[in-house]
Amino acid sequence: MLSDRAGPPLWLLAELTYRCPLQCPYCSNPLDFHRHNQELDTEEWLRVFKEAREMGAAQLGLSGGEPLIRQDLETLIAEARGMGYYTNLISSGIGMTRERVASLKKAGLDHIQLSFQDSDPAGNNALAGSHKAFKTKLEMAQCVKEFDYPMVINFVLHRQNIDHIESILQLCAEVGADYVELANAQYYGWALHNRDALLPTKEQIEKAEAVTARFRKRYGKAMQIYFVVPDYFESRPKPCMNGWASIFLTITPDGLALPCHSARDLPIDFPSVKDHSIDDIWWQSPGFNHFRGDSWMKSPCRECDEKEQDFGGCRCQAYLLTGDAANADPVCAKSPHHHSVKSAVERAAGSDDVQALVLRNVGNARALSAEEQ
Ligand code: FES
Repeated sequence: MLSDRAGPPLWLLAELTYRCPLQCPYCSNPLDFHRHNQELDTEEWLRVFKEAREMGAAQLGLSGGEPLIRQDLETLIAEARGMGYYTNLISSGIGMTRERVASLKKAGLDHIQLSFQDSDPAGNNALAGSHKAFKTKLEMAQCVKEFDYPMVINFVLHRQNIDHIESILQLCAEVGADYVELANAQYYGWALHNRDALLPTKEQIEKAEAVTARFRKRYGKAMQIYFVVPDYFESRPKPCMNGWASIFLTITPDGLALPCHSARDLPIDFPSVKDHSIDDIWWQSPGFNHFRGDSWMKSPCRECDEKEQDFGGCRCQAYLLTGDAANADPVCAKSPHHHSVKSAVERAAGSDDVQALVLRNVGNARALSAEEQ
């Protein structure tokens, strides 16, 4: 029996804006992000930070879109540091300058995670939808190092760049990365829309893991490498978000409070921080209580002896692939919908004929919304 009673939120993710100069086709933002353009102002964000901190939140992630677009970023960081948060900026590096890194440092920012798309400039720029992205990212990586931040580099891996793993890791070593996160794309938002063009084959993943093992051996603790396997290749689901509304709290740019970054797509009413306190949202709102405990579970999760380890997997993935968020995550081999994941993997294995990627931008978002109507 899983307890209905969660602890307080420990990890607050502030998605400061959906605006972004890049157009990555695996972005986890909702497909209709262009409809939600009323961003919280500085005071509203600070109230959110304060209320979550009073409840016990200690880690603050600042992401987007591209958080550097927010001109009040330094104010938000300085105030959050003053409240006692550990602050982590999740950025593409575009829009960063040496002066901006200096002012972020002065504001007290603890940690910067920089994302790259590929090790090859042309490939990187095509995926980012920006001809100068690679050069800027390299310069900013050096700058981050110069300001004495641990160098944390994130590559989202997928079918179109995973074969470059050797040069990706070589690049990370050359820029002096302390930590490398090789995160295979997770299929939500834009990534789900582009799934057939992004899902790698099993062989690609195995080769990438072998190369990663070689680099781990060579660099040891000097460059720590995390390789996150796409869950489509697993037979058991991930314990998504460590359980629904158990430690993670995400706030969207327009103030919607979510238990995870993808929940906006679920047919559940989530509260806005404009109307409710964080305390009320976390403990009282039907949205946050929806999948706590196990009374919501259907078979096979309900009687499964692994439910305390994986909580039935990911609610968003269950909804996106089966149409019902209370179903078992179809990644699980026990799920009656497991075939939906298997057939996507089989399609990827059998086809070199890759569909064109749809880049994440306002024009494409509008076109997709129009198609839906
Ligand atoms: Fe929403 Fe997994 S991403 S529960």
